[in-house]
Amino acid sequence: MSVRVYIPADAAAKSIGADAVAAAVRDEAMRLGLAIEIVRTGSRGLLWLEPMVEIETARGRVAYGVVRVSDVANLFAAGFLDGAEHPLSLGLVDDILYLRAQTRLTFARVGVNDPLSFEAYVASGGMMGLARAQAISTDAILDEMTISGLRGRGGAGFPAAIKWRTVRDAQSARKYVVINADEGDSGTFADRMLMEGDPFLIIEGMAIGALAVGADRGVIYIRSEYPHAIHVMNEALRIARREKLLGAHFDVEVRVGAGAYVCGEETALLESIEGKRGQVRAKPPLPAHRGLFGRPTLVHNVLTIAAAPTILANGGKAYGDLGVGRSRGTKPVQLAGNVKRGGLYELPFGVTLRELVYDIGGGTASGRPLRAVQVGGPLGAYFPEHLLDTPLDYEAMAKAGGLLGHGGVVVFDDGVDMARQARFAFEFCATESCGKCTPCRIGSTRGAETLDKIVAGVEVEKNMALVDDLLTLMTDASLCALGGLTPLPVGSALKHFPEDFIRAPKCAAAE
Ligand SMILES: Cc1cc2nc3c(=O)[nH]c(=O)nc-3n(C[C@H](O)[C@H](O)[C@H](O)COP(=O)(O)O)c2cc1C
Ligand code: SF4
Repeated sequence: MSVRVYIPADAAAKSIGADAVAAAVRDEAMRLGLAIEIVRTGSRGLLWLEPMVEIETARGRVAYGVVRVSDVANLFAAGFLDGAEHPLSLGLVDDILYLRAQTRLTFARVGVNDPLSFEAYVASGGMMGLARAQAISTDAILDEMTISGLRGRGGAGFPAAIKWRTVRDAQSARKYVVINADEGDSGTFADRMLMEGDPFLIIEGMAIGALAVGADRGVIYIRSEYPHAIHVMNEALRIARREKLLGAHFDVEVRVGAGAYVCGEETALLESIEGKRGQVRAKPPLPAHRGLFGRPTLVHNVLTIAAAPTILANGGKAYGDLGVGRSRGTKPVQLAGNVKRGGLYELPFGVTLRELVYDIGGGTASGRPLRAVQVGGPLGAYFPEHLLDTPLDYEAMAKAGGLLGHGGVVVFDDGVDMARQARFAFEFCATESCGKCTPCRIGSTRGAETLDKIVAGVEVEKNMALVDDLLTLMTDASLCALGGLTPLPVGSALKHFPEDFIRAPKCAAAE
């Protein structure tokens, strides 16, 4: 009987040699005449341990990591096919604390199954959500979504059920479900991991959404920087058609973005799919009323739609029982930057930043003192040490002057220059601005110039007041959140780390 060996084919694992490790395992088994079956999976999300290799044993799956090609012969010699002890042993996967302490609903199958095995998907509870949705009325589906309390995981946190109801109630011969997999936020990778690790979950979620709102076409918009996810999603769509999950009643295609951050904004994304320049549309009309090609469109982030199968299968109440306040269910958090144990961590809303960064993440990778944590991507605020007890939920983050966004948590040690980070926020906005409105297009460039003057000691008080004024203007007058939220990283850096901005003695403007 052959032994099953699981090796991730996730882009993060591949980038550090998972393919070469898989080839070495195959070659060594052949050389020794041992029968093995290699199953390529997604990543479990313990990125500091990749490539992580798992062996199926009678006791359960046993993990080894970090496995390099040079370790393979030695692992075989030690008897790793029987789950034997070795310096790279991580023990039984089910006992690994980082995994055991999570509540994996959306990521339950990621790193476990072959992502393109429909049989494995069904055997592990897949398709139960759609089956339930098909057995009840659209009103009952919408009720489950309402009870779940699910809110958009793409950034804005808008209640999903309200969006579903709006699209369902809109009158049109054609409606769309559009999934936003542009994932442009710094330090985020959950959408990519899910597409590469459990694509059928996203397709099932889209099919439930389509059934509820009456859509017959779907699009997944994936950034071009994700070639592996694009490949896996296309393969999964082909299999889903074969399995009749998709077909004449509802079909889905992948569209590839060309690499603009603003194309993650839902209306710019729709413009891009329509073949136009990715520029933000004024709202109203909302995409739910007039979206893709002018038709009612349900636009969701990958993680939002992927929650639908679980909600339908287990009931909205079971999902809504998790979390705190108005933030219900689980949140896949992405720990990145200068952190010891970076990776994907799914848990109910409510954990504090401190618990995340220290208990789960193990503190800074450099071992130096932590200085700042940026939450929510390039438009998110920088949190200093004294605000790390802020819980991770939409309202608490907003109250502390930040946002949760897509759940990216990027850690910086005391080597960070916060004036550079603030300048970068303006620069980023200037580079990525779609150019439609003046506060963002011009304000971002003027903001970077004014910060330069402050750091150079030129008329510091006057220029500080100018930046303050500019931040208010950008917040109040930008058409979308790119210009409207850039004040968060800039303002939080100025507020919490003023010492980084005042460096040179004050002097008059040279000009
Ligand atoms: C500049 C900008 C970039 C955005 N990028 C993304 C993105 O990459 N992925 C995403 O899901 N939402 C992104 N959003 C939010 C979307 O506009 C929209 O709120 C989201 O796709 C709706 O889905 P949800 O309700 O499931 O969150 C972005 C918004 C802005 C203003
Ligand atoms: S805020 Fe920036 S990205 Fe948004 S519409 Fe205005 S110019 Fe375009």
